[in-house]
Amino acid sequence: MSLLKIKDKQFKPYISSEKIQEAVKNVAAKINAELKDEFPIFLVVLNGAFMFASDLLKEINFPCEISFVKVASYHGATSSGSVTELIGLTEDVTNRTVVIVEDIVDTGLTLEKLINVLSKKNIKQYKVATAFFKPSSLKNNIKIHYTGIEIPNDFVVGYGLDYDGLGRNQKNVFVLA
Ligand code: IMP
Repeated sequence: MSLLKIKDKQFKPYISSEKIQEAVKNVAAKINAELKDEFPIFLVVLNGAFMFASDLLKEINFPCEISFVKVASYHGATSSGSVTELIGLTEDVTNRTVVIVEDIVDTGLTLEKLINVLSKKNIKQYKVATAFFKPSSLKNNIKIHYTGIEIPNDFVVGYGLDYDGLGRNQKNVFVLA
């Protein structure tokens, strides 16, 4: 693997595609064992989670539904504080087990907002599956049920993760050189 140049930054190889695939299979095995009787709905958080979701869901061996969502946060013109909206969820999630599929959990703030929205929808329970997790960056105590690979607080690209919109298509993960 060689260096990856994106705009003004150089990235060096960090996690190989083989290692990622092994981690994804481990996550899938846990989900297959724990959620097989739940008929869960997987909520894939776009854009970053598309590649993880594709690999993960091919390994899931029980019936499930898959939905693709975006989390949008904005400051309302009159209200104080920010409003979070979940775009793209058309399925009824009442009494369902919802598996949130994330690319990476960094501060955990995006996840927290998403969980707050979901918790108003009378779901049975939620589980979080993430390809990558930076435990030392976490700013809340949200539980991550299924983690592919834990990494230090480094900025990474590839396997769905981008720098300024680029690098998502790389099958290996790179870190800022
Ligand atoms: P959080 O809310 O801080 O947990 O981070 C949420 C989002 O920030 C992730 O879903 C990613 O889109 C982005 N992000 C966090 N860390 C990285 C990184 O190392 N590379 C690329 N994107 C990242």
